[in-house]
Amino acid sequence: MRAAGAASAASMLGARVHALAVAQDEPARPVGANDHIQIALIGAGGQGQGDTKVALQVPGVKLLAVADCYNGRLAHAKELWGKDIFTTRHYGEILARKDIDAVIIGTPDHWHKQASVDAMKAGKDVYCEKPMIHLYSDGPEMIETARATQRIIQIGSQRVSSILYAKAKELLESGAIGKLNMVEAHWDRNSAIGAWDYTIPLDASPETCDWPRFLGTAPQIPFSAEQFFQWRKWKAYGSGVAGDLFVHLFSGTHFITGSHGPTRAMATGGLRFWKDGRNVPDVMLGLFDYPQGFNLSLRVNFVDGGQESQGLTFTGSEGTIEITGNSVGVNRVPRSKEPGLSIATFTDAMQHRILAEYRRKYPIQHPEEAPVRYEEYVAPAGYSDSYDHFKNFFNSVRTRKPVVEDAVFGFRAAGAALLSNLSYDRGTVVHWDPETMKIV
Ligand SMILES: NC(=O)c1ccc[n+]([C@@H]2O[C@H](COP(=O)([O-])OP(=O)(O)OC[C@H]3O[C@@H](n4cnc5c(N)ncnc54)[C@H](O)[C@@H]3O)[C@@H](O)[C@H]2O)c1
Repeated sequence: MRAAGAASAASMLGARVHALAVAQDEPARPVGANDHIQIALIGAGGQGQGDTKVALQVPGVKLLAVADCYNGRLAHAKELWGKDIFTTRHYGEILARKDIDAVIIGTPDHWHKQASVDAMKAGKDVYCEKPMIHLYSDGPEMIETARATQRIIQIGSQRVSSILYAKAKELLESGAIGKLNMVEAHWDRNSAIGAWDYTIPLDASPETCDWPRFLGTAPQIPFSAEQFFQWRKWKAYGSGVAGDLFVHLFSGTHFITGSHGPTRAMATGGLRFWKDGRNVPDVMLGLFDYPQGFNLSLRVNFVDGGQESQGLTFTGSEGTIEITGNSVGVNRVPRSKEPGLSIATFTDAMQHRILAEYRRKYPIQHPEEAPVRYEEYVAPAGYSDSYDHFKNFFNSVRTRKPVVEDAVFGFRAAGAALLSNLSYDRGTVVHWDPETMKIV
């Protein structure tokens, strides 16, 4: 419907709408029982379960085991994937198994590094959710472990494998909008769930939840069902709106522009509305300088009174590329060959003289046909970039070729995102070297 609506509006404007093609799967061939990639899930909450459902759609992938700290999620894993699935609170039991090739890590952020490092050291390939890091020291350790163990690690930021991002990258590289000057992105959510008020199950208790294992290296405090199930609200486990949402916008910006990251960051914001005990802001604005000569401006607003929305716009010297929902729009605004005139306040005689001179210099052009200014590329209905991301991961697991979002890419995106928290906490501009991935 969206494509059809855009098409009718577009045809009135002399614009064009194109359907984007999805990369075809390899011609179907039966995958032998010995040829399956056998996986396990570590952290079986919302994203872990969602990731696993998508991963299992990729041909030749089988789930054997699930680790989680809440009994209810282990029980639901059996409801979803069968009673033969091995479940445990202790992911070490999964890593000790020789029949598991790869793990999906869907724990809270403060476990990403340790679970990934433990898994790679146990010989498993890893699909780790974003943000890759919780602390800056996590990045080098994860990169080094991947190198030393020769394991594949893919980070799970949204859309990096998307055909929409690939199209946006191609458009930018082809010069469709001239020289890139600015990228603007936002993510506004005005609902309680949008602001991380996730439902706490009625049986949450120290018996059903493995609180010490959940805490890990976080400050040791008494059991809190809120902190267990709504962990994003606390810095000890999550990374604020920057780690949760900015990171996706950084991965998109880095993938599409080919940049490694910003050199300077400043962020502001505050806890404006959700004063429920959380210790991270619910409004955050960040500004970033890129060495390629463009600026990035990001916004997350959890108290936006308008419609929930997100978007990413690239503005160049000759137009914009905008990514929203399931489409990429390119609006070409070629620079006029004429500078234009501002003469109305001068005498009539002066206006005539200037105009005559101007037209001698810039004769009126009559283009043969109006150029197509606006084009929209629409992904097919039901298109899943997560499926493509998992396909890319499992392809690398089989071929040992690099993934699209490895640990270096993941650190550059998450490291850039967390500059916002640093700047916000310190109240200063912060500097980052995107090549060495160090705070300057
Ligand atoms: N790519 C995306 O679009 C996307 C979307 C949502 C979440 N995420 C990321 O996925 C991760 C999980 O988020 P969520 O919303 O699913 O959280 P969640 O709270 O729903 O699930 C996390 C699960 O991890 C379990 N867990 C905690 N410590 C563990 C440990 N040591 N071992 C095993 N399990 C452990 C918890 O019991 C919980 O069930 C986060 O890092 C988040 O940033 C990514």
